[in-house]
Amino acid sequence: MRSMASSASSRGNIAAIVGVGPKLGRSIARKFAHEGYTVAILARDLGRLSRFADEIAREEKAQVFAIRIDCSDSRSIREAFEGVLSLGFVEVLVYNAYQPVSWHPTNFTDIRVEHFEKSLAVSSVGAFHCAQQVVPGMVERGRGTILFTGCSASLSGIAGYSQLCCGKFAMRALSQCLAKEFQPLGVHVAHVIIHGIVGTPRGAIASSSQHRLLVGEQQHQQTRGREGEGLMDPDALAQTYWYLHIQDRSSWTQEIDLHPSNQRYM
Ligand SMILES: NC(=O)c1ccc[n+]([C@@H]2O[C@H](COP(=O)([O-])OP(=O)(O)OC[C@H]3O[C@@H](n4cnc5c(N)ncnc54)[C@H](OP(=O)(O)O)[C@@H]3O)[C@@H](O)[C@H]2O)c1
Repeated sequence: MRSMASSASSRGNIAAIVGVGPKLGRSIARKFAHEGYTVAILARDLGRLSRFADEIAREEKAQVFAIRIDCSDSRSIREAFEGVLSLGFVEVLVYNAYQPVSWHPTNFTDIRVEHFEKSLAVSSVGAFHCAQQVVPGMVERGRGTILFTGCSASLSGIAGYSQLCCGKFAMRALSQCLAKEFQPLGVHVAHVIIHGIVGTPRGAIASSSQHRLLVGEQQHQQTRGREGEGLMDPDALAQTYWYLHIQDRSSWTQEIDLHPSNQRYM
């Protein structure tokens, strides 16, 4: 199931962004569209994705395809990528999907195994499946970029967040394995660790109510009053994804961690 928005006639190579919501995923999609890529954006909520596709296509004069995917379901991934691969060569894959967790830690014995399994399914099994869809085309052409989005929980266990940490640890391992296997074949694989809370783009003029809508009421409560103290601009983060993609192959980054400049608490 997919919808397409277009304000341009040219068809370039494809950047597939998996896990596109109102924050980082949308900013990454916008950046690659801005740089001339045809962009496929994927997530579960096709209605919202289609609105993002319309917006990005209009503002960046790009082709943007909205394609439904559920990264916890291997059949859905295969079907979605049949659509993505039919668009052309997927030169860039960004795997950004994650199973959200409560902002409050959960006692270990209260974490339901289904939630634990779902988090692993989205963060690691889904990433594995998506990478398998695009790697053959990249290897055949001797080029391509795969970027995985991690967070502080990718590096260090956190009490009350075993489901998030285990999924993100596994994704980091996957990224390292793929980097070592495919870098010699021309495919750049990197893991981006975001240490902080992603806010709204600095350029966006969001009213208090829009902000609540965008980041969620719980997060809003947590971050209220800390706007200038550590929220990360998703457009700025997206620049880093772009820089990773255009890095010279003589000096590829395999892992990068990003911190807000005034961070004191990690
Ligand atoms: N937000 C933060 O403060 C923060 C901090 C550090 C790191 N990160 C990392 O940054 C990445 C993006 O986070 P974000 O908060 O900025 O979100 P985002 O990019 O705005 O959206 C991510 C999207 O992933 C989609 N998703 C979730 N489960 C999925 C599934 N099973 N299949 C397909 N898509 C799925 C959701 O859309 P649907 O509901 O439509 O599927 C969600 O909106 C994540 O990997 C996260 O771990 C975020």
